[in-house]
Amino acid sequence: MERKIVYWPDKGLNTPTRPVEDFGPELEALLEEMLEACKKADGIGIAANQVGVSLRLAWIGQEDGTFFEIANPEILQRSGNVTYEEGCLSVPDQFEKVKRFEKVKVRFQDRTGAWKELEAEGRLAHVFQHEIDHLDGKVFVDHLSQLKRGIIRERMSIFKRRNG
Ligand code: CO
Repeated sequence: MERKIVYWPDKGLNTPTRPVEDFGPELEALLEEMLEACKKADGIGIAANQVGVSLRLAWIGQEDGTFFEIANPEILQRSGNVTYEEGCLSVPDQFEKVKRFEKVKVRFQDRTGAWKELEAEGRLAHVFQHEIDHLDGKVFVDHLSQLKRGIIRERMSIFKRRNG
């Protein structure tokens, strides 16, 4: 099944997702569909609620172009500050600088349910925070000023009219 990207503003994008409890073939299938949608749109990460599924599940893209899945992630430690230009598959063609933590230590499950811990910095740490934000019901535009968010909202209404 081809999964369509949900565009902001959308209620599902601003609603916290439910924990993943069943690790099995259905989760595998959903993950494959999410990755396909992500790659098709040239993304470096995708969260389940971006394809309309309320689950605490996402893909994280690494700088070498490979991806790995995260389920039920939690940020254990945060340090430093860094600002990068950020974009999002749910807010096409809109890029703004967002301040994030420079380093994060994250705990998450893989597709089998096994727990893993990872310390990330730089771009990877940024992607982790962006995707975990999605799972918490937050989009990168929620970090911007009301004025900037309003401008992007206006551009998105034009985009939605053109793209159905
Ligand atoms: Co995004």
